[in-house]
Amino acid sequence: MKHYLVTGGAGFIGANYVKYILKKHGDLKLIILDDLTYAGNLGTIKDDLKDPRVEFIKGNIVDPQIVNSIFEKHPIDFTVNFAAESHVDRSIENPQLFLQTNILGTQNLLETAKKFWTVGRDEKGYPIYREGVKYLQVSTDEVYGSLGETGFFTEKTPLDPRSPYSASKTSADLIVAAYSETYKLPVNITRCSNNYGPYHFPEKLIPLIIKNILEGKKLPVYGDGLNVRDWLYVEDHCKAIDLALLRGKAGEIYNVGGHNEMKNIDIVKLIIAEIRRLMAENPEYRKALKPSAPSVSDLSWINNELITFVKDRLGHDQRYAIDPSKITGELGWRPETKFADGIVKTIRWYLENQDWVDDVISGGYQKYYEQMYGNR
Ligand code: NAD
Ligand code: DAU
Repeated sequence: MKHYLVTGGAGFIGANYVKYILKKHGDLKLIILDDLTYAGNLGTIKDDLKDPRVEFIKGNIVDPQIVNSIFEKHPIDFTVNFAAESHVDRSIENPQLFLQTNILGTQNLLETAKKFWTVGRDEKGYPIYREGVKYLQVSTDEVYGSLGETGFFTEKTPLDPRSPYSASKTSADLIVAAYSETYKLPVNITRCSNNYGPYHFPEKLIPLIIKNILEGKKLPVYGDGLNVRDWLYVEDHCKAIDLALLRGKAGEIYNVGGHNEMKNIDIVKLIIAEIRRLMAENPEYRKALKPSAPSVSDLSWINNELITFVKDRLGHDQRYAIDPSKITGELGWRPETKFADGIVKTIRWYLENQDWVDDVISGGYQKYYEQMYGNR
């Protein structure tokens, strides 16, 4: 039986991964370490926590004592690190926290794994590790910087991060690579494009647009709305991580993305059209509208006039696009959900799960929202 340490398991992708591996693998023990920052929500994994295979620990990945105590108590085989400060806009406001969590947290996990997994030394002095162990770093395509109108990121694209968030994720990747080279620690890095799907925190584009429509609010589009992101349904990302962890060759990096490039403005228009269509087809969905929405019976206000172009993000990367041919060729991974289907599934999920949204929008979130958008 494999023992997993999954960090950030109460966040968007981490929680989806927890659900995915619990369903996929019968025989495992899963330790979830999460500090429950504004982005972590125990409600997201409340049913999973009832599973006897799961143990939850609230704690910071930067804290050596907590991580040590987990490895002392459990024979961890796999560490999968999702825990991070993940929002680019917040990194522009408060870079230091990103450096602490994303860089020092990663190094702390690596160091502890190295210590507990070492069973000897070879003749050159390199550590020899317990059979079957692996550390997987969940990274991002943002480490490659920004593309022009053509081209794709491959694993060989030079690193060129441009925001404090992406610089911190790149630094973390370099520390992972250093542990791989210097100590021969078995590691993989996965670099994924923009995820979307259930449990996405409503500070990110897609869930924020859905939330604002339901509240009858304006829909803030940065700059001219022509920036391009390459969208991947979150479950497809979870499958890629599962494959890379179980079958990926130690030391390898895998890009993960599904050739689903979309301009921001087109996504926003699509969400407007789909929400209106779904509510027209099924009046039950109108229950998701908030009291501040202009009307429940007449849906004509759900139109492109809700869009407002606001001040651009500082250093806003123009375009991301992943070439996933390595993970497809070596591990047989392919995205299964087309954007046209995934976005409808996602919108339906939000319409049907407003309790979850209400739950995660705490007082702290309101303050953050005012600070970011109040004066625009
Ligand atoms: P998220 O912000 O939704 O969740 C992050 C989780 O980490 C939260 O549960 C939070 O409580 C926890 N956390 C934060 N700081 C912590 C700390 N110091 N110690 C312990 N737990 C801490 O993020 P997400 O969107 O689920 O992203 C997960 C990972 O995937 C991140 O590493 C991110 O860089 C990477 N990633 C995200 C995307 C995306 O589109 N969302 C794409 C590629 C890569
Ligand atoms: O590419 C992978 C990355 O995708 C991950 O590493 C990050 O953790 C994740 O947050 C995401 O970063 P982005 O900055 O691309 O995602 P976000 O949802 O914040 O923004 C998507 C695009 O939409 C981006 O071009 C900025 C724009 N945007 C965003 C918000 C929140 C708007 O136009 N208006 C908004 O209100």
